[in-house]
Amino acid sequence: MSFKTSHVKHFILGSLFIVLMTRLSFGNWDLPPVPPPNEYGNVLINRTSEKNGMKPVTFSHWIHRQKHTCRVCHFELEFNMKANTTEITEKTNRAGLHCGASGCHDGKVAFSHEKPNCDKCHDGGQNSSGVKFADTVSQLPNANYGNKIDWTEAMKQGWITPQNYLSLKPAEGLAFKENLTLEAEWSGVPPAIFPHNIHIEWLDCNNCHPAIFNIKKKTTKHFEMVRILDGEFCGVCHINVAFPIQRCKACHPTMKSETKY
Ligand code: HEC
Ligand code: HEC
Ligand code: HEC
Ligand code: HEC
Ligand code: HEC
Repeated sequence: MSFKTSHVKHFILGSLFIVLMTRLSFGNWDLPPVPPPNEYGNVLINRTSEKNGMKPVTFSHWIHRQKHTCRVCHFELEFNMKANTTEITEKTNRAGLHCGASGCHDGKVAFSHEKPNCDKCHDGGQNSSGVKFADTVSQLPNANYGNKIDWTEAMKQGWITPQNYLSLKPAEGLAFKENLTLEAEWSGVPPAIFPHNIHIEWLDCNNCHPAIFNIKKKTTKHFEMVRILDGEFCGVCHINVAFPIQRCKACHPTMKSETKY
């Protein structure tokens, strides 16, 4: 194909795309609601609490990710990335697992599982641990999405240096391409960019491979927005904890339009 025809083809596809995108992003897709910044990434854990006479537990990602990477909790401590699916009990906590792991809520590094601390966690959604959201936001690089904190910049500029392991050191020296361009199945749709390097600052390879994504590029089946919006693939994290899915251009840098967030 000559340069000119490909140029024209791109222009037509591009225009078609804008029309299509406007319909898709403002019409057909139900984007998940975005909670207020101080509640984005908060999880109310109530698998067993109320059944046993305690208020549900509030867990705030914005507090914890300042000190520990996702890897520590979701790989070493084996918390699942889905609320109310991990079998956490007071017994496991007191035995040094889950919240009670050594270096965490062990009574040395952070408050213990003894009275009168029960209500700091079992507070029914009040977030009463004493860490102030306004102070956190004012100390870290700002963003206009999610927690109103640009976590990538906060890490890059050294405002936070979250611990990457408690006892289990991450494996080193595995080869992978830093930035993957994930072309959509549909022609004319701007590709999604996946930066490995930013993710492995926070996550272990095992957090994504092989359960969420195949390790071979472009072999993940049904890799589409409807599934992502349903909480699969990128939507495992980019709906409730990492920046919200409304931020289309962060993943599709060449996209023309963007929804409000
Ligand atoms: C660091 C946070 C934290 C502290 C402090 C804490 N808990 Fe919990 N506790 C949890 C979490 C998380 C769960 C799991 C909740 C669920 O799945 O509903 C839990 C579960 C429970 C449960 C229900 C499951 C079971 O084991 O029967 C009871 C009862 C409970 N805690 C009592 C207490 C009491 C009493 C105290 C204070 C002496 C306390 N907890 C302190 C985090 C905490
Ligand atoms: C200090 C521990 C800790 C850290 C650090 C942490 N998480 Fe979590 N995360 C949890 C716990 C606990 C839950 C709730 C698990 C449950 O209820 O079974 C959770 C739940 C989740 C969920 C499910 C939320 C929902 O509403 O279903 C996602 C997604 C998630 N985490 C992603 C992340 C990402 C991404 C990071 C890093 C930026 C991270 N987590 C850092 C402890 C942590
Ligand atoms: C967290 C990253 C991420 C965000 C944010 C995101 N997308 Fe996607 N999107 C993807 C990935 C990955 C694919 C699949 C690419 C492929 O096919 O390889 C995709 C595919 C698409 C496609 C192709 C058709 C389809 O259904 O798969 C369209 C259209 C699209 N996205 C539009 C949007 C719009 C509009 C927004 C904002 C509301 C958005 N995306 C936000 C990652 C993202
Ligand atoms: C946040 C999720 C995530 C993490 C963490 C992650 N990957 Fe990936 N990886 C992906 C995605 C998405 C693809 C593309 C899958 C597809 O296109 O089907 C991919 C593809 C790959 C590929 C094939 C493409 C290529 O040429 O690079 C390799 C190899 C790979 N990853 C290795 C790793 C290793 C090693 C680690 C840990 C150091 C890692 N990944 C961590 C999401 C992740
Ligand atoms: C297991 C959790 C997880 C999955 C799955 C995941 N991400 Fe992320 N992603 C993160 C975290 C954590 C960050 C750091 C920034 C933040 O928290 O918002 C991040 C950052 C990014 C960034 C950097 C941009 C910025 O401003 O920080 C891009 C781009 C991105 N993700 C795209 C994707 C795409 C595309 C997919 C799917 C192919 C994907 N991510 C899957 C957790 C995840």
